[in-house]
Amino acid sequence: MGYNVAVVGATGLVGSKFIEVLQERNFPVDEIYFFASARSAGKTLKFKDKDVLVEELKEDNIKNKKIDFALFSAGGDTSKEYAPIFAKYNMTVIDNSSAWRMDPTVPLVVPEVNPEDISWHKGIIANPNCSTIQAVVALKPLKEKYGIKRIIYSTYQAVSGAGVSGVADLQNGTTEKFPRNITNNVIPHIDVFLDNGYTKEEIKMVNETRKILHDDDLKVTATTVRVPVYFGHSESINVELNNAFEIEDIFNLYKTAENVVLMDDIENAVFPTALDAAGKDEVFVGRIRRDFSVDNGVNLWVVADNIRKGAASNAIQIAETIIKSK
Ligand code: A2P
Repeated sequence: MGYNVAVVGATGLVGSKFIEVLQERNFPVDEIYFFASARSAGKTLKFKDKDVLVEELKEDNIKNKKIDFALFSAGGDTSKEYAPIFAKYNMTVIDNSSAWRMDPTVPLVVPEVNPEDISWHKGIIANPNCSTIQAVVALKPLKEKYGIKRIIYSTYQAVSGAGVSGVADLQNGTTEKFPRNITNNVIPHIDVFLDNGYTKEEIKMVNETRKILHDDDLKVTATTVRVPVYFGHSESINVELNNAFEIEDIFNLYKTAENVVLMDDIENAVFPTALDAAGKDEVFVGRIRRDFSVDNGVNLWVVADNIRKGAASNAIQIAETIIKSK
């Protein structure tokens, strides 16, 4: 049996990745519907060799369709307005924006980490921020075995995280999307600044990590940085564990962790980089070493394709998890 799937924001960077990954993973699609703004209505996009019309996102174009899953990536305002409309018609929304992530009635899910939270959704499931997704996939095995006391995130994030206009800024040397020229530069400013001196991206990582790992008191801090890389976010993660560990045991954990690829052989200069992760759905972990400055500290280097595992693939894996549980 197949499912009817809508892609909302189908003309965008994540939207087009939804379309690619649905085909690549052989997601059981009966009917596919594409939605975008009025600007794109009337265009066609390919799905399995067929031309599919892009429709304007409005209730009249939704209400008579039988849609099982609506994959959203059309910005927070669009999600705020339209996710409840799809949900009203009993369609399950998987939303890639930040609009619903911290709503206590909406589960925030990474299938390798907290698949159990899917069960309490009421029509909307939130896909976490790209930098949070790859981090928690790497942190889950540590949390299970040792418990986590504190996390320090430092990120090196690709321009594609900012959508089509972010990619254009790196291609053209423009500052349409970013506050400074990103070419040959590193910008410690992702999303808006808040009153406490952090950026919203940094606070998203803090809050979303706590929600996904079910630990509201977890100590987390973050510095998030844009780098001139097209695809793939890299992260330095410093973790203080609750219990003592042997470094060999941590290597062994990552040898068997779900959807994790261990790339750590420093003698042969093996460690993950953004180019290694591009086009892949796994999370790559390397540079594992003890942090000698604290008790039970460990440093990790974690890399993933921000548009795939960080966005489209994680959302589609959520839908696959729902289908499997039926
Ligand atoms: P459009 O191409 O018609 O503007 P990205 O993040 O890569 O820039 O993509 C944003 C996506 O969200 C695009 O598909 C864009 O459609 C869509 N979008 C933006 N605003 C709206 C809106 N008000 N209603 C529906 N889709 C929207």
